[in-house]
This record gives sequence, C-alpha cells and structure tokens, in this order.
Amino acid sequence: MVDWVRLELDVERFDDAEFSPYLRRAEASGTRFATLAELGDTPPHLRALYELNKTCSADIPDRGSFYSYDEYVAQRVDVPSFNPGGVVLAIRDGTWIGMSATSLHPEQGYAFSEMTGVLAPHRGQGLSLALKLLAIRFVRASGYRRLVAFHHPRNASAIAMNRRLGFTDLAADD
Ligand SMILES: CC(C)(COP(=O)(O)OP(=O)(O)OC[C@H]1O[C@@H](n2cnc3c(N)ncnc32)[C@H](O)[C@@H]1OP(=O)(O)O)[C@@H](O)C(=O)NCCC(=O)NCCS
Repeated sequence: MVDWVRLELDVERFDDAEFSPYLRRAEASGTRFATLAELGDTPPHLRALYELNKTCSADIPDRGSFYSYDEYVAQRVDVPSFNPGGVVLAIRDGTWIGMSATSLHPEQGYAFSEMTGVLAPHRGQGLSLALKLLAIRFVRASGYRRLVAFHHPRNASAIAMNRRLGFTDLAADD
C-alpha cells in the first residue's frame, strides 16, 4: 500500500508577494494564464484539458493507466466539486503547456489540489509556482483557508514544489 505524502497549506498565511515574480516573469516571457471558466468549459477545451492532464500524469510514479476521456469527464468534471474557475491554464503560442486544477469541498471545509502539471519541455522555469499562486488566489477568493494535496512518496518534484510554497505535513488524524 502506498504511504501518501499528505500536505496542506494555510492560504491566509501564504505570502503572494514572494511568488508573484514567478507569474510576472512567465508573462513577460510570453506565457499567459487563464481559467477554464474564462476560456469556456466547452467540449474541445475539456478534451484539451484531458490531454494535458494525461500527458503530465504519465510522470507521476505508479500512476498506472490514465482514465479514458469518458471516465475522466465522469469522475473529474461531472462532479459537484469541479469548478472551471479553479482550473488554471498556462498557455504559450496558443498551446496549453501547464495546468493547476483545484476542487472545493464544503463538507470537509477544504480545497483540494487535484493536479498540477507542466509539459516536460517547459519545466524548471517556475511555471508551477505561477500556476499555484493563481490556484491559491482562487481558494482564498472562494472562502477557504485550507488547501490540501496528496502525493506519491516518490514524486519528489511535486512534493518539493508544494514545500517550496509553504505546504506542511497534514496532521495524522485529519
Ligand atoms: C511537479 C511539476 C508540476 C513542477 O513543475 P515545474 O514548472 O517544473 O516546477 P517549477 O519550475 O515551478 O519549480 C518549483 C519548485 O519545485 C521544486 N522542483 C521542481 N522540479 C523539481 C525537481 N525535478 N526536483 C526537485 N525539486 C523540484 C523546486 O523546489 C522548485 O523551486 P526552486 O526552483 O525555487 O527551488 C512538474 O514536474 C510536473 O508536471 N510533473 C509531472 C506531474 C506531477 O507529478 N504533478 C504533481 C501531481 S498532482
């Protein structure tokens, strides 16, 4: 059984100013950011989101085979916690190169970081930090204080990304 690394961030204490340079730098070098709500959650856009998610997920240790498109829509999109305003996309020359998707869980009282991914040729440039800054702003604007994320213990880059943002280990009984 996998011993998931369970992390959480207090978004009220998160310091936007420390990470906004990553967003400015990405925009200055030609990457723009938009939510799926802004772009429209149309069938072609959902298909593009699926393809991006699938490609990035191939690098998650032990991820196994990814959903079919229909399974993805049924399990990730057509669910009450899905919010197109919480799907942030990084776009370069018209191509979607990165994403950060956050769901909201009113009963549990937290937001959940479903998937952050950047296409391999664009990694190591701070794009994930820019995407997560926008995701954190969405969480805050939605009235939530806690952002939770689960990672495979061997997903070193994702764990390091979240610790860099200030995520800490979730309390064992949570
Ligand atoms: C995890 C992922 C999104 C990081 O994207 P990225 O744009 O390359 O990350 P950034 O350049 O913004 O780096 C952010 C921080 O993450 C950490 N990090 C990123 N890649 C790392 C690596 N390969 N090894 C160690 N730390 C890494 C660093 O702390 C870095 O901050 P620093 O450069 O100031 O030290 C990307 O590797 C990815 O898409 N992986 C596959 C999908 C995945 O596993 N997603 C998470 C599951 S939800």
